[in-house]
Amino acid sequence: MSIAWDETLTVGDAAIDADHRCMMNLIAAIEAAATGPVDCAAIGRTLAELTRLTAEHFAREEALQRSIGFPDIDAHRLSHDMLLKRLDAVLAHYLDGGDDVRKGIIRTLGDSLATWLVTHIATNDMEYKPYMAAVR
Ligand SMILES: [Fe+2]
Repeated sequence: MSIAWDETLTVGDAAIDADHRCMMNLIAAIEAAATGPVDCAAIGRTLAELTRLTAEHFAREEALQRSIGFPDIDAHRLSHDMLLKRLDAVLAHYLDGGDDVRKGIIRTLGDSLATWLVTHIATNDMEYKPYMAAVR
């Protein structure tokens, strides 16, 4: 898929929506490298930035969920933890690997992350949106 922000993905919190847009832009850069020219060092930096931003974003989102009394926070956090573990493992594998390993990762990673993030926002994140509206 070609990842792109659209207004149906807004959760209604400016910081969270801005995070989601930044994450999508980083994933789009990884997706573009799957079919275009590959700069392995640049994609490594993009992947490291995505991993850092994702960890910060999930902490921000979980704090928001606590503040609005979202009841399914534990299941939601599990979904976040699983992605973070995967990103950490992929980043380590990427940094340790040679160009063949890196190109192999680039071929499939962007598409898979795009599907995960859009599905997560459109289904899981939308579950806390009504709780936010209720307290604001
Ligand atoms: Fe989330």
